[in-house]
Amino acid sequence: MIKKIGILTSGGDAPGMNAAVIAVVKTAFSKNITPFLINDGYKGLIEDWINEVKPGDEGITQMLSRGGTFIGSARLPEFKEESVREKAVANLKKHGIEALVVIGGDGSYQGAEKLTQMGINCVGLPGTIDNDIVSSDYTIGFDTALNTVVDSIDKIRDTMQSHNRCSVVEIMGNGCGDLTLYAAVATGAEVFSTRESQLTEDEICAQVKALATKGKRSVVVAISENIYDAHALAKKIEAASGYVTRATVLGHVQRGGVPTGMDRYLATTAGIFAVEQLAAGIGGVYVGLDKGKLVARDIEATLGMPRPDQSEIYEKIRKNNSSY
Ligand code: ADP
Ligand code: F6P
Repeated sequence: MIKKIGILTSGGDAPGMNAAVIAVVKTAFSKNITPFLINDGYKGLIEDWINEVKPGDEGITQMLSRGGTFIGSARLPEFKEESVREKAVANLKKHGIEALVVIGGDGSYQGAEKLTQMGINCVGLPGTIDNDIVSSDYTIGFDTALNTVVDSIDKIRDTMQSHNRCSVVEIMGNGCGDLTLYAAVATGAEVFSTRESQLTEDEICAQVKALATKGKRSVVVAISENIYDAHALAKKIEAASGYVTRATVLGHVQRGGVPTGMDRYLATTAGIFAVEQLAAGIGGVYVGLDKGKLVARDIEATLGMPRPDQSEIYEKIRKNNSSY
């Protein structure tokens, strides 16, 4: 039976990461395992920013409702080098830590897989606002970020409606269109474009013009980041459609904020499940939701899995949102 485990958060922070850390700490105590917090992701492993959690630290449990990650996160490209990871393993061994819970995205899992091969059993938890971990239905942070985007578009819509305008709204996602697609569904955005179902600028202009011709009072164009220049696109739409058009890049407002109940629920149940895996001697896996059920899957086997075809839902929502 393992006696000591470490927890770290890695990659972009996401609301709900704190709930996952707390669940890991509590479950560890319930199994007489001593938990250690590692600050700033893999960087903290290298720098030995590793601290034992003492029982009854109220400061930790109070972080449940806070956004971000209270143990800090970082990106450390050098972690791909074996010599750098050897430092991490040496520091973990110095503290007697035999296993790790890594909360992050695909990149972090690759680090976790390599640490497992070096003798430190690791379990990954899906923490990212992007929902880009193909083999989990949802990721920790997605629901909160989605609600932030929906709230922002609702507010933008008020002004567009009042002034008979169009608005381009740029949404994060790191190449995954789920935040944009789900927000388009939830706000009725008339036009939307993501990497999975990308429209040309001319197609966007034509769709907005058709809405203007129909007499639509306001139009929202939701676009995923890193495809277009939102401000240039707004000018082009204005010229093509006649709507006064503005652009809003939502940016990091999408990463922060109080985690929703759903994100805390997923983070907490997944955190408990992760410690159960490690206590059973299982490593090199990450925890995901498969049709609503938590599963532990082999990291190596699932990295690079293709995204499912979403063309049917895109088509349905486009038809629905632009029809009236
Ligand atoms: P995410 O985990 O959100 O996908 P990144 O892709 O930035 O975020 O990865 C987070 C960190 O995981 C990187 O900064 C690096 O320290 C580590 N990492 C990423 N890819 C690898 C890899 N191939 N081998 C080892 N570590 C990696
Ligand atoms: O992975 C989360 C995310 O916010 C992506 O949506 C975005 O592409 C990226 O991180 C932004 O990274 P940074 O905070 O380093 O600018």
